[in-house]
Amino acid sequence: MERKQEHIENYLKSEYKGNNLLDCVYLEHNSLPELDIDDVDLSIEFNGRKIDYPIMINAMTGGGDSSCDINEDLARLCETFNIPMAVGSQKIALVDENAIESFELVREHLPKGKNIVIGNLSAREDLESVQKSIEMIDCDMFGLHLNPIQELIMEEGDRNFKGIKDNIKHIVDNTDIPIIVKEVGFGMNKDTVKQLYDCGVRIIDIAGFGGTNFCEIEDNRRFDMEFSEFYCWGIPTAKILLDLQDKPDDLFIISSGGIKTSIDIVKSIVLGADMTAMSGEILSYLMHGGYEFAKEFMDSLIYKMKMLMVMLNARNIEELKKVDYKIFGKLKEIV
Ligand SMILES: Cc1cc2nc3c(=O)[nH]c(=O)nc-3n(C[C@H](O)[C@H](O)[C@H](O)COP(=O)(O)O)c2cc1C
Repeated sequence: MERKQEHIENYLKSEYKGNNLLDCVYLEHNSLPELDIDDVDLSIEFNGRKIDYPIMINAMTGGGDSSCDINEDLARLCETFNIPMAVGSQKIALVDENAIESFELVREHLPKGKNIVIGNLSAREDLESVQKSIEMIDCDMFGLHLNPIQELIMEEGDRNFKGIKDNIKHIVDNTDIPIIVKEVGFGMNKDTVKQLYDCGVRIIDIAGFGGTNFCEIEDNRRFDMEFSEFYCWGIPTAKILLDLQDKPDDLFIISSGGIKTSIDIVKSIVLGADMTAMSGEILSYLMHGGYEFAKEFMDSLIYKMKMLMVMLNARNIEELKKVDYKIFGKLKEIV
């Protein structure tokens, strides 16, 4: 079976429950809010464009027939809610032109100038592959993923990670759209973020631990060795956000890794994220109940985010960023 299809099936079957530690962040309830919920504005600016909510659908799929259906539904959701969409790794479409359609259809649903589409490849791919992938979907931004632990578990994965930083810098210097560097669910530490910033990267998707677990997903694709002791490996999303409190002003941080609820989104922003991203949770809704079920989930997510804004007396995202918080428990022990 094709690898991307196995990732989806293994994701849906996965059992390990990680914790991004956002549950160790305390926000104080306000019983006297001076706000009308209809005045709450959740929009932000991303890459010079207004998007209606501080959330995007993150890189997942592309390739086979089922990927066409999934990408089409994800694109419809992004169109409906005016939020950005990242496609899954385009590697397959660089080697098999039959796979191109599943990526192109995303841009067709989300026209240039109206919606933001983000391409995706491994940060190990060369500039030429990145440029071909950008052209393939005429994307607005391009995501490069870092995934050493996933590669090391995959039987067919890479073993040598030397030179990736120089490669990223070369891509950033020679590409005319913004480059996002992301993890895939194990998180990036402060030093990694600084090194990426020094390479010229200005948008980082931290993709912390606590949501989709690629150790488990890949372990279940491999039968000669088992890797369950690594299921707990990674930096929880909340810890990364706290470590980046003094980040440079021109560094845009996307909080992801186990973002499932309105509270996860709101807490991420209070901790300093500029936006959030969701993969596994939205995929679950889509695969279990189709487009309408996923849309209902998004509708309720947005209503609950607005509820939280009222309870925190924050009218917009700028005000939300100023809300006080306290941390406790395990999160306090590791920061
Ligand atoms: C089925 C599946 C496939 C994924 N494929 C990719 C991919 O091709 N490229 C990539 O950068 N990340 C990929 N990811 C990782 C996500 O973009 C994201 O970083 C990670 O799942 C953590 O977010 P989550 O906890 O909200 O799922 C994939 C995730 C899932 C669930």
